Amino acid sequence: MNQEKREHWKSHMGFVLAAAGSAIGLGNIWRFPYIAGENGGAAFVLLYLICIVLVGLPVMLCEFVVGRSTEKDPVGAYSDLSRRNVFWRLVGFMGVASGFLILSYYSVVGGWTLAYILEGATGRFSQLSSPDLAWGNFLKFTGHPYWPIVFHGFFIALCVGTVHSGVRKGIERWCDILMPALFVLLLILIVRAVTLPGARAGVAFLLKPDFSKITTQAFLVALGHAFFSLSLGMGAMITYGSYVEKKENLWKATAWVAGLDTMVALLAGLAIFPAVFAIGFDPAVGPGLIFKVLPAVFARMPGGAYLWGTLFFVLLAIAALTSGFSLLEVVTAYFVDEKGYPRHKVSIIAGIAIFLLGIPCALSFGPMQDVKFFNRTVFDSLDFLTSNILLPLGGLLICIFAGWVWGVKPALEEANAGAEGMRCKAVLGAAWKFLVRYVSPVAVVLVFLFSLGLISF
Ligand code: TRP
Repeated sequence: MNQEKREHWKSHMGFVLAAAGSAIGLGNIWRFPYIAGENGGAAFVLLYLICIVLVGLPVMLCEFVVGRSTEKDPVGAYSDLSRRNVFWRLVGFMGVASGFLILSYYSVVGGWTLAYILEGATGRFSQLSSPDLAWGNFLKFTGHPYWPIVFHGFFIALCVGTVHSGVRKGIERWCDILMPALFVLLLILIVRAVTLPGARAGVAFLLKPDFSKITTQAFLVALGHAFFSLSLGMGAMITYGSYVEKKENLWKATAWVAGLDTMVALLAGLAIFPAVFAIGFDPAVGPGLIFKVLPAVFARMPGGAYLWGTLFFVLLAIAALTSGFSLLEVVTAYFVDEKGYPRHKVSIIAGIAIFLLGIPCALSFGPMQDVKFFNRTVFDSLDFLTSNILLPLGGLLICIFAGWVWGVKPALEEANAGAEGMRCKAVLGAAWKFLVRYVSPVAVVLVFLFSLGLISF
């Protein structure tokens, strides 16, 4: 076991920015805008907000509390609080494995964003003046026999370089720089988008509710996305929570992280849809939105494809990187805390292993597109296994653990440490207790069954 004194975040803001960096990722900028578009615009946004409040906030607080009270990685945390129960240790282990698996395909997409920064900066978007041209370019790049692997490796190397230097000197330092940069870039892109002639239709698309699209299905999509977007269910927030000092107010941190994450999702929609509408493209193209429609939008923007295209993909790469840090940190923390290995070695070896597993994912759009398990490519299989099975399962188990096994009383005591002066503590505590014990587990079970196709409406 590692007997050294545990590293702590240098500042409250450093912790909040790192956790927000984990939460704010491809999910916010690539996925949220198009699922909101598909599921009723503003009405969906409303549902999403309800899910964040009723499930996202309580589960995030659970993870922070479990992490801080033990000051351990997910396996060590579950183990300590359950008195070394084998089942709960396995649950922690499932989180570490999820981090490993998610990063291996997440970094493939992260690699695409890095490649697209180069495409933008070298002026390539100016040739992609229609969505079909942009899409052809995307298929050509992602189907290439080695470039996606090179950029995937480059993305992992950036994550390793950061996690390698530790919590303060690596993750916190970089998030302190990258997150403000992300906010500034996003604001610049929004101002550009909403001042284009004809942008109003795009703003209306995102903000005008269409209540006829509010179905049970939309609700489950919102809930599932709330989970993924807040990085819940695999111990990422347990791990980040384990570096928080007792004097910090975890209630406030939870509110900040979830608030920033939601804000960036909404603002990303506000940067994307007005531009898409102003150029007169179809906003409902689904997952291809960013790579299919946006390069063509940039090509036609006053100010040029170089500038706007590059800025947008820098934004996307930052969002992906700070999420990648947290995924690699979960794996690293496990080997450091449980096995006592030195961080710098672990981060490199874990990075290499993740890189290797990511190779078939990187090739899933080209040479290996016909290698399928249950009709899914390697990339899709890992995405399905983690997003639809491991994360909801991990989320359900953390609620059961904090609400029933470890117990709400010690959990609340830990949550309230550092929150002595806070008002409405009793009310918040009672609400949290109710949500964690009853509402969140039931909601998560529903999403779970739905995403496995076991229930439908
Ligand atoms: N939240 C990130 C996003 O929105 C993805 C992510 C990062 C994640 N770390 C995670 C998801 C941990 C679940 C668990 O893109």
